[in-house]
Amino acid sequence: MCKVRDLSVAFHGAKRRLTHEVLKGISFDVFPGEVSGLLGESGSGKSTLALAMLRVLPAHARVRGSISFDGRDLLQLSEREMRRVRSAGISIVFQEPGLALNPVMQVGTQIMEVLRAHHNWKRQRLRDEARVLLVQVDLDDIDRIFKSYPHELSGGQAQRVLIAQGLACRPALLIADEPTASLDSTIQAEILALLQKLRRAHNMALLFITHNPALLLNFAERVMVMHYGEIVEQGPTAAVFSRPANAFTKLLLSSMDQRTLAAAGPA
Ligand SMILES: Nc1ncnc2c1ncn2[C@@H]1O[C@H](COP(=O)(O)OP(=O)(O)OP(=O)(O)O)[C@@H](O)[C@H]1O
Ligand SMILES: [Mg+2]
Repeated sequence: MCKVRDLSVAFHGAKRRLTHEVLKGISFDVFPGEVSGLLGESGSGKSTLALAMLRVLPAHARVRGSISFDGRDLLQLSEREMRRVRSAGISIVFQEPGLALNPVMQVGTQIMEVLRAHHNWKRQRLRDEARVLLVQVDLDDIDRIFKSYPHELSGGQAQRVLIAQGLACRPALLIADEPTASLDSTIQAEILALLQKLRRAHNMALLFITHNPALLLNFAERVMVMHYGEIVEQGPTAAVFSRPANAFTKLLLSSMDQRTLAAAGPA
């Protein structure tokens, strides 16, 4: 479904003198309906990769390689074609609900705005569809949530609203960039279960970005390990976690409880 080949991203510094290579020749595939995990420490380039796939990097980023999605190279599309990809093709849920939601707009209206950007629907239809989305992300008391401002929601509720926005145009691929980093572990588990449920219900592929390997276990079918802008190891999660080949992967996994790891498969 999505084939990334030899993708490099560099940020040009002032006067184009300094360039900072953030992604260095990355290749991987995303398969329909599968959960892929992108694992790497802070600053390794995970969000940059997500933004490159949506083609929303700032102008001073130089992008090379190819990102083929449904057979077309996203790096060659016009901005107009790319807008269509960003709705029904690839969508993203960001790591900080506090930053991604508009603080002065009711959340129901924010979901309606996303729908409005992609459909020519009347107000009532937008409102109905926004409510359906809030139900699908398992929020209770939809009437209250719909009219709430972001600061009136708990962290978990705000994250669900963001997921509803991400789902709004029924993407084939949903990228979730550390969607649970700021939540406590019970709520984290609930959000993972929700993403898994939605993936099955909509037969969507999920690219789940995290620095925490424990979240990928029993969740992601495949894992890609990123280190300083390179994918140093990738494969089925159970295989990579039980027999990591790369020294950096071993280091990341050493932070995990050894019993949890042993449950991943035979060493
Ligand atoms: N707009 C930008 N301009 C210049 N450099 C940038 C820009 N965005 C990111 N970088 C640099 O690219 C590198 C990778 O950043 P990125 O945000 O992709 O990492 P990350 O893996 O998502 O980290 P985190 O886990 O903290 O979210 C960092 O060194 C960062 O400073
Ligand atoms: Mg990031």
